[in-house]
Parts: sequence; C-alpha cells; structure tokens
Amino acid sequence: MTDLKGLILSGGKGTRLRPITHTSAKQLVPVANKPVLFYGIEAMADAGVTEIGIIIAPETGPEIEAAAGDGSRFGVEISYIVQDEPLGLAHAVLTAEPFLGESPFVMYLGDNLLQGGISDLVAAFREHSPDALILLTPVPDPENFGVAELAPPDSSSPGDVGRVVRLIEKPTEPATDLALVGVYMFTAQIHDAARAIEPSARGELEITDAIQHLVDGGKRVEPHIVRGWWKDTGRLDDMLEANRLILDNLTERVQGELIDSQVDGRVVIEPGARLERTTVRGPAIVGAGAQLRDCYIGPYTAIGESCRIANAEVEHSILLEGSSVCDLDGRMESSLLGRNVTVRRSDRQPRAYRFMVGDNSDISIL
Ligand code: G1P
Repeated sequence: MTDLKGLILSGGKGTRLRPITHTSAKQLVPVANKPVLFYGIEAMADAGVTEIGIIIAPETGPEIEAAAGDGSRFGVEISYIVQDEPLGLAHAVLTAEPFLGESPFVMYLGDNLLQGGISDLVAAFREHSPDALILLTPVPDPENFGVAELAPPDSSSPGDVGRVVRLIEKPTEPATDLALVGVYMFTAQIHDAARAIEPSARGELEITDAIQHLVDGGKRVEPHIVRGWWKDTGRLDDMLEANRLILDNLTERVQGELIDSQVDGRVVIEPGARLERTTVRGPAIVGAGAQLRDCYIGPYTAIGESCRIANAEVEHSILLEGSSVCDLDGRMESSLLGRNVTVRRSDRQPRAYRFMVGDNSDISIL
C-alpha cells in the first residue's frame, strides 16, 4: 500500500458549544488543558502518519493554523485546506482531493477523541487492504449518529463481526445501536463515491452515504468495533466527560509552587502556577501561571493557563485561560468557562445579580 496520508476535519460551526464557539473553533476547546484537535494529530503521528491535511473553515481557519502550525512540534507536516462552506464530510473529502491524490488515507473528525489511538487500526488497514475501514461503537442514542447494520458474524472465523449491510446517517428509527465513530480509513475510491451521492435532508454530502455507495458497489468495507472509549466532544456534557476520561489517565506532576497547600491523587500543577491555602483533589490539572488562593479544587477539573481563583470551590469543570472565579458562596461544578471570563461575588448595593454575558450563554444560579 502506498503511504497513508492523514485528513483531519476541523471546520464546522460548533453550534452545540455556543457561546464558546462564537469566538473560538470547537476543535481548540481544551480537554485536560490540551486542544481536542491535538489529540487527533498526536494519534496520527503515533501511527506513523506524518503527511496531514487539515480541513478548515474560512471563519476559524486562521486560529487553527496559528495553534497547530506546520506540525513540526508533533513530528508531522501539516497542510491546510479551506472548505468554503460546511457542505458535509464527503464534500470535505472532495475538497481535499488535490492534497490526497491517489493515496489511501485516515480521516479523523477533529472534535473526536479515541482512547488508545489509531495505530492498531492503521496496521489492520495496511494488512487487510480493504477498500475502506470503519469504526463502530454501541451508543445509547444512535439516532444522533451514522448507524450500521451488520450481517450475522461468520462463526468459523474468530473475531469476525459480520459484513456491513447498511449504513444510515441519523436514522429516526435506528436498526441497531452501532454508531459510526469519526475515524475512517479510505482508499482513493472514496472520491468517486463522494461524487456519486446526492446531498442529504440537511443539505450535506454525507460520508455515511459515500461509504454506503462503496458497499452497494460490492466493495469491501471492513467494520471494527471500538473497545476503548470514544467521545464526540460536540456538546458541553460530552466535553466534560472527555475531560474526565483524559484526566483519569494523568500522571502526577507538581511543578508549581505550593504554599500551605495540599494536592491529593493524580494532580498536575504546571510550572509557574501558585497555590496558597488551597486543596486540589485529583484527577485535576492546573495550568501554567494560574493563581489559586483559599480554594478547594475538586476532581475532574482542568484549570487553564493564568486563571485566578480565590475563596471558591470548583469541581468537574473546564476553565479556559485567563478566567477568574472569586468569592463564591456555593460550589461551581459541571461548568465550562471560556477565555477571560470573570465570575465573582460583589458587595455593591443593591444586592443583585449583575451579568455581562455573550449570546447563547447558559447560566444556572442557586
Ligand atoms: C458525523 C457523521 C456521523 C458520525 C459522527 C461521529 O456526524 O456524519 O455519521 O457518527 O460524525 O462523530 P456530525 O458530527 O456531522 O453530526
């Protein structure tokens, strides 16, 4: 097989993560203080895929380029490909055709996280040389994904999961609970398949339909069931869960300054962070230059660079860089704060809630 290229899709509007995505690309929202997108780039690098194209949208592309750069720090070479309009994943593949040429490739949705990376899958793709390889995993809400129907497995061949019979994008009545994970492996045949299909009801060229076209044409589409966890980080709850899953694998490292403070369990305190009279109960990460005073930081919290927290309790939350939380009465939890957000108690009279909040924000008060 000629060498595999990588294609990471990092366009899209991120409507389900507004207001964060009004000002930032959803693929750059950090999970355990690292942009989601970087996990995909690293997974490719680990699998030996070093020539990577990243599909970007005109609105958020420059920010993605600034963050990931030329790829040298990941040991890969990144080219950026602008998709002018979000017309679907198969449309993104067609947009990348000049970059991909005749090469087989791994396609990775930039807001997806897959435990254990993709090395085994790339190896299976190289070894079995199917026309395409797809990943599937059981989910409780298959109607929100592409869904696969498989034939009964061949009992004489161990590990066989059954051939792909049908793939349907977001069916109202899913036939199974097997969702298509946002990591795919294709040969160049996918380009003709993407050209052959029509836009779906949501007006997009669906990659699911293009793969179905391969199945209909008698091509070999090899299904793999994902064993570890997989997360599509498109919504707040998914983001918090992804944060939880990644933080669960933290290796303890305390490089910041602790003054009358205590850290319990798997905690990372980055260099330049300063904790005073504070307890951090892991798994949790505190970014470089953060200043924490008289706080309790509970499990599954990721505090970004240069955040300031004082007289407050924060748990199961993600704070982006430069945010501050001060003098709270109650505990803040299951929250996502964007960059440079301020949450504080004020003693101004009259006693009242005072907000300065962007579009599509979501606030719950005691
Ligand atoms: C896309 C695909 C869908 C797949 C999902 C995985 O959905 O169309 O088949 O299951 O990614 O994250 P979208 O995120 O565009 O709704």
